Amino acid sequence: MDGTFSYVKVHIKPQLGIRNFDREAAKQVAGENPDYLVDDLYQAIAKGDYPKWNVYVQVMSPKQAEGYKWNIFDMTKVWPHKDVPLRQIGVLTLNKNPDNYFTDIEQAAFSPSTIVPGWAPSADPMLQARMFAYPDAARYRLGTNYQMLPTNHAKSPVHCPYQRDGFMNFTDNYNDQPNYVGSQLEPMTFKAGGAPCSRLSTLTEHEKWTGEVLSYTSSVTALDFEQATALWKVIGREHGHQERFISNVASSISGVTDRRLRSAVYQLFAHVDKDLGARIQEATKLDN
Ligand code: HEM
Repeated sequence: MDGTFSYVKVHIKPQLGIRNFDREAAKQVAGENPDYLVDDLYQAIAKGDYPKWNVYVQVMSPKQAEGYKWNIFDMTKVWPHKDVPLRQIGVLTLNKNPDNYFTDIEQAAFSPSTIVPGWAPSADPMLQARMFAYPDAARYRLGTNYQMLPTNHAKSPVHCPYQRDGFMNFTDNYNDQPNYVGSQLEPMTFKAGGAPCSRLSTLTEHEKWTGEVLSYTSSVTALDFEQATALWKVIGREHGHQERFISNVASSISGVTDRRLRSAVYQLFAHVDKDLGARIQEATKLDN
């Protein structure tokens, strides 16, 4: 590993496509069987009709990122496929139902901070928040050693884990070694099968750009509506889609009693499409 890297955005798209209930049908189905989708998934897997997702990546070099027309960490914008094409790297298949729902699913703890060597988190602020929020929730929900539970435990040796002992620890992890990791006292190995800690400097010239781009102001410009306007046109290709969207938004807004807030929402949508704001306003009145 020489310290070079690329920014990677991962996309996981269902081979079955995407179909949704409209608001009325969703309400009805939730009343009849709130676990409708879990049930559907379970039955499909049970009969061998395994659901599959195509996995793609978009890859950008740090140089490209620095020169890109907007901040690549702005999660309100996609990376247009024409600039950064989707490249398929695999297929994800769900081919097994849980044997025990509690041990396999309820005790499962996912986090973007659980990564294999070769991957590292970017400076994306949303990702950074999630790196800590999920393990915090898991420690509260499952206990401090939740990563030792069979459903969460890595199948391969864990390199340089920084966690030691704690409530309900059931490995001898660092045995009698001192309680610090990766210092001059190396080689220090994780006796439960891990490898010594390796140190990789991530301090590069690129860090300077990252620091600057992350302190961007939150002012909103016309560029912020470009993709939303394009999406609104895409939605328009399917009969009734725009109408359902307006009805869904109006239904949420009709619960907002503050008039100023309501009109701010109409104005925001008017920036996406000039009729859209007016149509939401109209539908909201009808919804009242
Ligand atoms: C890209 C944005 C995000 C995505 C795609 C996302 C996705 C998810 C998903 C799929 C779940 C599981 C829901 C379930 O169990 O049914 C979840 C739970 C959760 N999310 Fe997020 N989330 C995002 C942003 C955030 C942020 C910014 C935070 C906090 C700073 C956060 C904190 C949490 C927490 C604490 C849970 C509960 C975890 C648990 O029960 O163990 N999420 N999120």
